[in-house]
Amino acid sequence: MADPLVTVSRLLAPAFAAVGGEGADPVVRPSDRADAQANGALAIAKQVGKNPRQVAEEVLAVAQAQLGDVCSNIEIAGPGFLNLTFSDAFLAQQLAEASADERLGVRSTPVAEHIIVDYSHPNVAKEMHVGHLRTTVIGDSLVRMLLLVGHRVTKENHIGDWGTPFGMLIEHMLDLGETTAANDLSVGDLAGFYKGARAKFDADEVFQDRARQRVVLLQSGDAETLRLWGILVNESTRYFNQVYATLGVLLTDADLAPESMYNPMLPEVVTRLRDAGLLRESDGAQVVFPPGYLNREGEPLPLIVQNSVGGYNYATTDLACVIDRVERLHADRMVYVVGAPQAQHLAMVFAVAEMAGWLAPPRVAVHVPFGNVLGADRKMLKSRSGESLKLNELLEEAIERAEQAVAEKNVDLSAEERTVVARAVGIGAVKYADLSTDRIKDYVFEWDRMLSFDGNTAPYLQYAHARICSIFRRAQVARDSVRTTTPVLGTPQERALAMRLLAFDTAVWDTIDRYSPHRLCTFLFDLAQDFTAFYEHCPVLKAADDATRQSRLALCDVTARVMEKGLHLLGIAAPERM
Ligand code: ARG
Repeated sequence: MADPLVTVSRLLAPAFAAVGGEGADPVVRPSDRADAQANGALAIAKQVGKNPRQVAEEVLAVAQAQLGDVCSNIEIAGPGFLNLTFSDAFLAQQLAEASADERLGVRSTPVAEHIIVDYSHPNVAKEMHVGHLRTTVIGDSLVRMLLLVGHRVTKENHIGDWGTPFGMLIEHMLDLGETTAANDLSVGDLAGFYKGARAKFDADEVFQDRARQRVVLLQSGDAETLRLWGILVNESTRYFNQVYATLGVLLTDADLAPESMYNPMLPEVVTRLRDAGLLRESDGAQVVFPPGYLNREGEPLPLIVQNSVGGYNYATTDLACVIDRVERLHADRMVYVVGAPQAQHLAMVFAVAEMAGWLAPPRVAVHVPFGNVLGADRKMLKSRSGESLKLNELLEEAIERAEQAVAEKNVDLSAEERTVVARAVGIGAVKYADLSTDRIKDYVFEWDRMLSFDGNTAPYLQYAHARICSIFRRAQVARDSVRTTTPVLGTPQERALAMRLLAFDTAVWDTIDRYSPHRLCTFLFDLAQDFTAFYEHCPVLKAADDATRQSRLALCDVTARVMEKGLHLLGIAAPERM
């Protein structure tokens, strides 16, 4: 059981291979002319120098028998296309199977891998910006999908908790007093704290000296300095956890894989690169030149792993991180959900890891980049006062605005229920607005659009789901009582809805293959629209007879479950009442 397009492609493959040779692809696509079209005859015809229509006929002669149960009509069209119409009985039976399946028809992976997903990774004592919102939401959704299809997933939150700024941050904390500093940080005034430290550092030479000495103490492992540093890390992660809880993402403290964790490995990274003969000296620094990377002047671009005074940097840590993921965690795949500006850094890290032999096929590292969140002015999103945006405040505002929208939509909700729904809608709206645009593009953050009950928004999808739940409440029918019913697809709308539901499988897999959650969003939006068309044309509770009513209730039930599961894969709640 799977998407019928996948099934028919599998059934056609032997016939195409018989006519066109091993590996001949049926090339099955959705089509306006029929349910699906197989175009593979064209490539074969070209290869063997035959007329494509004739190839299509030969394929059909071989495949006809297998397709009998699946298709009600097959036509050869145009220059040798096979236009395929699925039989209603086949679709209905596939849908009944999907309905009985916990994963609602989504295929499991043929090979289960161990996949590391590196996402969220904010920086200690710095405000999380909307870029961190993006990586957190996208990464979390990918984790959920990879888990669903049966991979083993390790989430790694590579927070920035190390480096020279910690000298000034610790000294600033001492000036403020530990308790005050800790309070500022845990309530999320990270930006204020950082700015305070920075301002002093820029203005005061004595403070600069203190900061520099503190960095030395930190790097030499001085116990008191490490204790102070620990306060900064703990209070910041406390704040990150509040944001994660509000957002409803899967990350916990167990997923922390901070930069500092790789410190003990950094000298070894350099040694191993030296032993591999890859290290060069450039302006006093130790570097590796991965082939093919040039600067603006066309000169080879180095990846610096140790600076002239012996310090290590971000790249060194990322190399240690690759070694750790490969050698300790035995990762098959490493997915980095990191903003587009870091594309070159990561590409160079991966290239050097390959040169050193740490990263070798079939093991892969993938960068999943994303664009910016813009304000109405099409510049980087900022708070109203032009300050950096506090993520927690943004999310609180989302919930508040949603509360209003929900109150207007349904006056019958109890105050208690409204609170729960407003949270689901507000947070869902923010996440969905992010996930539903092609991740590589920038998008404009617009409250009114994302909170609208119309259009490609979370509230629209959540409402579609809640509406189906209410059908069952009104009918006083238990949802699972219709789950063994094989639906009858009597109208075009029922048939279209069934076809869409069966494409859930493909939507999830397309999303995974391209690391692009917006594909699943588009599917869910299409599903909601197909459901609306069905609901307008096909009376459910007032159906002409009991069998039709039962069949339509069964369609309603699978639709609601696919919607709920789809939203869940995006990390979005689906309340039963709104
Ligand atoms: N903390 C970094 C930042 O905020 C992102 C870390 C990404 N992960 C990695 N392995 N480099 O920009």
